[in-house]
Amino acid sequence: MKCNIAVLPGDGVGPEVTAEAVKVLEAVGRKFKHTFEAKLGRIGGNAIDEFGTPLPEETIRISKASDAILFGAVGGPKWDSPTAKVRPEDGILGIRKSLGLFANIRPVKAYPQLLDSSPLKASVVKDVDMVIIRELTGGLYFGKPKKRWETSRGRRAVDTMSYSEKEIVRILKVGFELARQRRKKLTSVDKFNVLATGRLWREIATEMGKEYADIQLEHVLVDNAAMQLVRNPGSFDVIVAENTFGDILSDESAMLGGSMGMLPSASLSSLPAVGKRAKGVGLYEPIHGTAPDIAGKGIANPIAAILSAAMMLRYSFGLQREADAIEGAVEGVLAEGYRTADIVARGDTPTPTSKLGSVIANYI
Ligand code: IPM
Ligand code: MN
Repeated sequence: MKCNIAVLPGDGVGPEVTAEAVKVLEAVGRKFKHTFEAKLGRIGGNAIDEFGTPLPEETIRISKASDAILFGAVGGPKWDSPTAKVRPEDGILGIRKSLGLFANIRPVKAYPQLLDSSPLKASVVKDVDMVIIRELTGGLYFGKPKKRWETSRGRRAVDTMSYSEKEIVRILKVGFELARQRRKKLTSVDKFNVLATGRLWREIATEMGKEYADIQLEHVLVDNAAMQLVRNPGSFDVIVAENTFGDILSDESAMLGGSMGMLPSASLSSLPAVGKRAKGVGLYEPIHGTAPDIAGKGIANPIAAILSAAMMLRYSFGLQREADAIEGAVEGVLAEGYRTADIVARGDTPTPTSKLGSVIANYI
């Protein structure tokens, strides 16, 4: 198969980890006889510095012309002034919106090899195997009005949490369908007791639950969900939540897997059946962000980016065996004891980013 991918490394550790994901894709290409044609695009803070915008037209063009996008991370202290006119984050938000990528899929798994890396007890995290589905193009991130202004009594700002029935139905549908591909349990997260959007969300989830009678549906308030995630995370299978709640819960959940550096994600405009290709262009990214404190040191964990490449093969190209090969290689090298600094046991020597990428590529 010939796979056209756009590679958007971005800022901070983004370039370091995406380079390793590309290295691993090339190894997959050699073994399974596929070609990966990669086009590089600029996004985020470095694009602001060079072009004055976090999302240059050229980047949108390359992305739309590709089958899938491998994205690194955007942002950093250099562009963090609260009054800045443009922000690096607008790059990723813009691309999600312009490609209609409303479904963000974030699998969280406790690797037996890493149980002791989690700040939580091994007995709490040992059974974790869940997927968080985050709505990605609505809610507080995009609702209007969204602005700040001066008043006679000081500064003021507003964000708007807004959801249409259509937006809620399509993301819940991804939740029900993904639960059907897994252990058939769906946890719908909302803030039903306070928010109007939460009440609409729960009402629609309840109605849809009747059509998906084979799925065990539960409703959990977001604050309670945050607590259950550290109390009994093994009880979750698929969690579906609106944009901001999903953003927060997925960072929390990352620690169940030992480190932020382990969590991949896929952003899609439709969920394909198992073994089939997703419609439209999918975007694949580690959830960890730019990690400015360790950027440029060659010590970042490339596994989240590498596992994002595996998700790309699975969802955008329908290549199950190849995706399994990457996931198997990650587990294999962890079993052999390779660890980056974020997951290394005290006293052991960490493996640098690029070395770990090579070891995973060789394992394939
Ligand atoms: C994420 C990130 C982004 C988000 C930022 C970088 C805009 O935190 O992908 O989770 O909030 O969606
Ligand atoms: Mn986030």
